[in-house]
Amino acid sequence: MTAQDIRNAYLKFFEERGHQVIPRALLVPQNDPTTLFTGSGMQPLIPYLLGEPHPKGTRLVDSQTCLRAQDIEEVGDNRHTTFFEMLGNWSLGDYFKKEQLSWFFEFLTDTVGLDPNRLYVTTFIGDEANGIPRDDESADIWEELFASKGIDANTVEIGSEDDGYKKGMQDGRIFYYDASKNWWCRAGKIDQMPAGEPGGPDSEVFYEFEHIEHDTKWGELCHPNCDCGRFMEIGNSVFMEYIKTKNGFDKLPKQNVDFGGGLERIAAASLNSSDVFRISLLGPIIEALQKLSGKDYESNTNAMRVIADHLRAATFLAVDGVVPSNKEQGYVMRRLVRRAIRFAFDLGIEQNFLEHIVPVIADLYKDDFPEVAENRDKVIAVLMREEKVFRQTLRAGVKELSKLSEGGLTGAEVFKLYDTYGFPVELSVEEAYKQDITVSLSWREEFDTLMKEQRERSQTAAKGTFKGGLGGQTMQHKKYHTATHLMYQALRDVLGSHVIQRGSNITEERLRFDFSHPEKVNPEQLQEVEEIVNKQISKDLKVSYEEFPTRVAVDEKGALGQFGDRYGDTVKVYKMIADNEDQPFSFEICGGPHVEHTLQLFEDNKKFKIIKEEASSAGIRRIKAVLI
Ligand code: ALA
Repeated sequence: MTAQDIRNAYLKFFEERGHQVIPRALLVPQNDPTTLFTGSGMQPLIPYLLGEPHPKGTRLVDSQTCLRAQDIEEVGDNRHTTFFEMLGNWSLGDYFKKEQLSWFFEFLTDTVGLDPNRLYVTTFIGDEANGIPRDDESADIWEELFASKGIDANTVEIGSEDDGYKKGMQDGRIFYYDASKNWWCRAGKIDQMPAGEPGGPDSEVFYEFEHIEHDTKWGELCHPNCDCGRFMEIGNSVFMEYIKTKNGFDKLPKQNVDFGGGLERIAAASLNSSDVFRISLLGPIIEALQKLSGKDYESNTNAMRVIADHLRAATFLAVDGVVPSNKEQGYVMRRLVRRAIRFAFDLGIEQNFLEHIVPVIADLYKDDFPEVAENRDKVIAVLMREEKVFRQTLRAGVKELSKLSEGGLTGAEVFKLYDTYGFPVELSVEEAYKQDITVSLSWREEFDTLMKEQRERSQTAAKGTFKGGLGGQTMQHKKYHTATHLMYQALRDVLGSHVIQRGSNITEERLRFDFSHPEKVNPEQLQEVEEIVNKQISKDLKVSYEEFPTRVAVDEKGALGQFGDRYGDTVKVYKMIADNEDQPFSFEICGGPHVEHTLQLFEDNKKFKIIKEEASSAGIRRIKAVLI
């Protein structure tokens, strides 16, 4: 079966079992500011998993185009792609474990024709601390399913991934892992879930490539979650029946199934090829690249995989309305297109390849996602425009690089190329390696320092704004600055550690604070934040600071900082601590100034009060607060 056949067979299989087919959602999530891209099939369905009725009923199926930008650097091996299709089926409070696992097994073995002897599965071992029981029910169902194919499936306990490398396969087929492997939620880790987020134990299916030998570079013994390449995860059934609360977990009103299967990976398994780039949705792009370059895939796997993946991703992004820019989705798209062009250079493809490759991609999707072919010319125009801009940058940058780097590439030079020519940082370093130019070991630190200095210069230049978001240095400013630190910590205590400062502005009348948080902060939460701040002020915390090397402050001492900000070698960390306590309430990197002790905030005022909470931009909330 081709990948296209597998996609259609999957939709049909579930349609025959009472599911409604829903169209793919766009790569840019609508009404969901929490992520830049749709990265899993369930993302557009969150409200329904939380209990809202879906207009199409309780059984849904689709093939969702997904993009995981965090995997950009991984592309080049035999399995990672930034863009992929996730086959998904959902039960919204309808069927549960028995039907789900049986159907998926039937689809894999009878419809796709995978050899059940090559399938290995995992299930959840339980999490006492969070009160989530072990999933023996799934293990029992799997045992029966394998037995139906004449396979005697042993159940073994692994626990954490590290334990896997110590314990190995133990002749097992059904493996119990802990929450690091068999719990699914959007936050990734069970302990990082914000209140209100759904999640649940899951059961994954792995395909074994027998011809691949375990490589001990990954760990002593192989196990299904090992990264050596012998096992590839092809599908994940999440039993989404929990919701995180402030104090732990509650059951959702209904038991849901959220299934996600990698179309490209299932197609690779059906070819028994550990290389996903050989499947029918990627192979033709590789073939076109071979033809254009006159080079073969075997000797140029890395470059051809990067180009095939990145251009497929960029094509869908363009279809879904994204254009290259320096911000958010546009920035990711810019990186994808530029990396593809850069790697095309390596193949000796100097120009005009986008208009050859995009039509190949459009053709692969013409029956199932006709919008790609319909937008073909628009896509080519968008990508070619970016190519032109990039080539100008590259030409200037590469020339400068070979001139600059006689004594090796330093952080100062990377900075100059970035600052003057807009030469992407990672490309400077990649290019230096290519030209056999030594790269200074400390280039990153040096670059970061220069970036920070430049940022400070431009901040001071912007009239009326100062470091730390302070508009001035009067006593009133200091009070609001101290209140800002207290509120930042209180927000993290109430809402969770995903809350990160994204902006601060202080006047004599009020503080304004922007921070990451996916939804409106409700009145009860706001009230709780106020209470915490007022209580801490009343405790008359002592305010002082110490200087630390940046790494020590952040990595060892756990000081709070501003996400994405670059600091110099040493930083000031402000500490706010009560006399009789040994842990500071607030511990945050900051230039100051602050009051000396928190009761100063109540010298002329009685309390701290939040006066407004609103959206600032996608995924960012803004709070204004006063001392009254
Ligand atoms: N939502 C689950 C995943 O992305 C199925 O793996």
